[in-house]
Amino acid sequence: MTRKPKPVKDSFVSMTELVLPNDTNTLNNLMGGRMMHLMDVAAAISAQRHSNRIVVTASVDNVSFREGIKLGSVITLEAQVTRAFSSSMEVHIDVWSEDIPSGTKVKSNEAFFTFVAVDQSGRPIDVPDAVPETATEQALFDGALRRRQLRLVLGGRMAPQEATELKALFDLVAQAAEDDTAS
Ligand SMILES: CC(C)(COP(=O)(O)OP(=O)(O)OC[C@H]1O[C@@H](n2cnc3c(N)ncnc32)[C@H](O)[C@@H]1OP(=O)(O)O)[C@@H](O)C(=O)NCCC(=O)NCCS
Repeated sequence: MTRKPKPVKDSFVSMTELVLPNDTNTLNNLMGGRMMHLMDVAAAISAQRHSNRIVVTASVDNVSFREGIKLGSVITLEAQVTRAFSSSMEVHIDVWSEDIPSGTKVKSNEAFFTFVAVDQSGRPIDVPDAVPETATEQALFDGALRRRQLRLVLGGRMAPQEATELKALFDLVAQAAEDDTAS
């Protein structure tokens, strides 16, 4: 059964946490694993909001840690579904780190998570389409198919020759390089 499409903004999640001593490494910076846990939780809630289902984490795209986040910092995680496929949803997450005494706030991480909605037996189940409404949401929606193909190829779940969006991208890059050489 097809379910009624939902605006992507309905899946928005904002989660705020204080970095406490138990969250840090011996340099008093937030541990990467703790950050990944918080990102997984915020992104899972977003996917649940979109699908109204139990969800499981299927994959996480590269997460890089730009700079250490100090003990006592306040971190804000903002997650939103970018696009839904059949049973899977891509969620984009931004992480901001705020130092309240100095009044500074910087973006520390960004990542894409994929969740799959499942029934009570853990079997994948269809989710509603996700509808972008702003230019930013549309850009994330448009890029989602390419990112999906890349992660499925890397995960051994799609043959590279089936990744049509990736092929189109590589063809464009190759054409641009040829044009550069010719000019
Ligand atoms: C994710 C999971 C439900 C997929 O089940 P499956 O039987 O392989 O199902 P399918 O092959 O039918 O794939 C279902 C969906 O998952 C997506 N998927 C599967 N593996 C994926 C991966 N590595 N990355 C992204 N998406 C993936 C498929 O693309 C498909 O999406 P679609 O329905 O939107 O087209 C199953 O592998 C699972 O339960 N994994 C463990 C999840 C978990 O415990 N996470 C927490 C880890 S601690």
